[in-house]
Amino acid sequence: MSDQAVFAPPPEFAASAHVGSLEAYQDLYRRAEENPEQFWSELAEKEILWYEKWSHAFEWHPPFVKWFVDGKTNASANCLDRHVEAGKGDKVALLWEGEPGDTRRITYAEMLAEVCRFANGLKQLGLQPGDRAVIYMPMVPEAVVAMLGCARIGVTHSVVFGGFSAEALKARIQDLEAQIVITADGGWRRGKEVKLKPAVDEALADCPTVRHSVVYQRTNSALPMQEGRDIWWHDFIKDQPAECPPEKLDSEHPLFVLYTSGTTGKPKGILHTTGGYLLHARLTMKWVFDLKDDDIYWCSADIGWVTGHTYIVYGPMSAGATQIMYEGAPDHPGWDRWWAIAANYKATIFYTSPTAVRAIIKQGDALPAKHDLSSLRLLGSVGEPINPAAWEWYHRVIGGGRCPIVDTWWQTETGGILIAPMPGAVPLKPGSGTLPMPGVLAEVVDFDGNPVGVDQEGFLIIKRPWPSMIRNIWGDPQRFEQQYFSRIPGIYFTGDAARRDAEGYFWILGRVDDVMNVSGHRLSTMEVESALVRHRAVAEAAVVGKPDEITGQAVCCFVTLKEGNWNHDTLGQELRQWVAHEIGSFARPAEIRFAEALPKTRSGKIMRRLLREIVTSHTVSGDVTTLEDLGVVQRLAAQHDDD
Ligand code: WTA
Repeated sequence: MSDQAVFAPPPEFAASAHVGSLEAYQDLYRRAEENPEQFWSELAEKEILWYEKWSHAFEWHPPFVKWFVDGKTNASANCLDRHVEAGKGDKVALLWEGEPGDTRRITYAEMLAEVCRFANGLKQLGLQPGDRAVIYMPMVPEAVVAMLGCARIGVTHSVVFGGFSAEALKARIQDLEAQIVITADGGWRRGKEVKLKPAVDEALADCPTVRHSVVYQRTNSALPMQEGRDIWWHDFIKDQPAECPPEKLDSEHPLFVLYTSGTTGKPKGILHTTGGYLLHARLTMKWVFDLKDDDIYWCSADIGWVTGHTYIVYGPMSAGATQIMYEGAPDHPGWDRWWAIAANYKATIFYTSPTAVRAIIKQGDALPAKHDLSSLRLLGSVGEPINPAAWEWYHRVIGGGRCPIVDTWWQTETGGILIAPMPGAVPLKPGSGTLPMPGVLAEVVDFDGNPVGVDQEGFLIIKRPWPSMIRNIWGDPQRFEQQYFSRIPGIYFTGDAARRDAEGYFWILGRVDDVMNVSGHRLSTMEVESALVRHRAVAEAAVVGKPDEITGQAVCCFVTLKEGNWNHDTLGQELRQWVAHEIGSFARPAEIRFAEALPKTRSGKIMRRLLREIVTSHTVSGDVTTLEDLGVVQRLAAQHDDD
């Protein structure tokens, strides 16, 4: 199977990499493990700007941790002032492109001035350290300005992805008891305006804590503004001075809260703080993205997700990177929009999700071939396991066979990448996140917390705290402890299943609740999906366990097909046989359902929970606020009735 392929770091890549050999990686890992206090102290001193030094690196009273205790710093100053003070004010921070094709280049000095004006505006409204701002914006530079402006004066921000509904927005504002909402009239997606302000108006009808909303003008559509509450962004910053001293904040000052779906219907507000988070964000830019001064870095995520927080805002900007930021959809006006942008700006590093890669594969190789992608030197993947077939395509077609792919495993809760290859040091195996970052004591364990053997499946846990780890669930410390630290007391439980091979490589098998048990065999939905998408007819697949009287669970597959004239009956049989052949007869699917699309979150993750509900109860209840297109689910649920 292609699982077995190994790609050593290209020698010319390794020669100039921050970490250029397996020994160098192992040395970092060993030093972090043996003496974490010293390891992290040295790095924090070197990599982060502090106003006051910390007394010790960390304090761990499970489930609560503090990093760089009593240190004083500021995230905004780390992302802006220090570069300007180092003479890099003229370096381009953002190469921004709007979906309609409008462009902006913004330097670090310009960014600093904008952030200061914005922060001064917040101060004038009376906002203070510890207050909360909700940011609900399109992918425009002002979204970054808003985040860094809040950070500058110690206002905790919570970005709500622009695709969320008014209901979802309201729930988050209420949970945070936010004082201000920062938004825009709308943004552009697939050639249409996606309005934002009307959802804010609807939400704010029920949010008495919010006194103001600042509205950036992007689409210029007509909007009602509420006198006394709503302020246009341009008026808000107009008379503000371009200097605003950064607040000297405690290392543990709450930097942001980001809501993510839990196992219940109520989203969890994941709290991250300042010093440790920044350090991990900045270090992983070097360790994983091998960032150099002349790189043109591009992460295709939205700032509404954690990937956008850490790998658009705090990681690249604290590292002083030049990066591309794109407002719109990857398929507008055509499916080669990303490649046109990458070629035009000569992107060197590109970071996206497997879902996006698979969607693009479906469009064929001719589109990327139209563009010169030779500037790329490194590719990244995040959000879900990348199946070997997609990995190989990404490597060959986008990376020209020369770019390492960093498959980065992490979570909203982990704040930054925990398992990923250092691309100049660690040989790649398609589909594996490879080895953990220094200081990340990852292990695969059974129900009782005992390590399982080589190649055995188990739960992925992290045994020691790391600098960017979740500090709490906003307003719910009990849920925090129960969710992450109770299965094995005092040990961080990721909720993911994994196995580790003989060389210590981690293979993430998906969420624990996505693991099926068929006739006593543990089987990952991902393994079956990966087998399915290796078949020539299959574009995408999602697999769930369906209750079965005999086998416990049976494998139920939802698949979308590539272009072609397929006979569903014969293809269904062929695919069942194919999976049995690829994995083993115990994995033979009980059912193949053909779908026109799979239900996905707006960040592109397949919502298997909904598919499980469809196969178990034929209906869908619970939280669907993160769903991209509710119609997909309704059609899938209705399909059963037609059967
Ligand atoms: C999954 C996204 C396999 C995993 C940064 C995790 C991955 C969840 C990978 C977190 C990867 C993320 N390989 N699985 N490289 N990256 N995941 O909070 O199940 O949106 O627990 O954070 O995505 O998703 P979240």
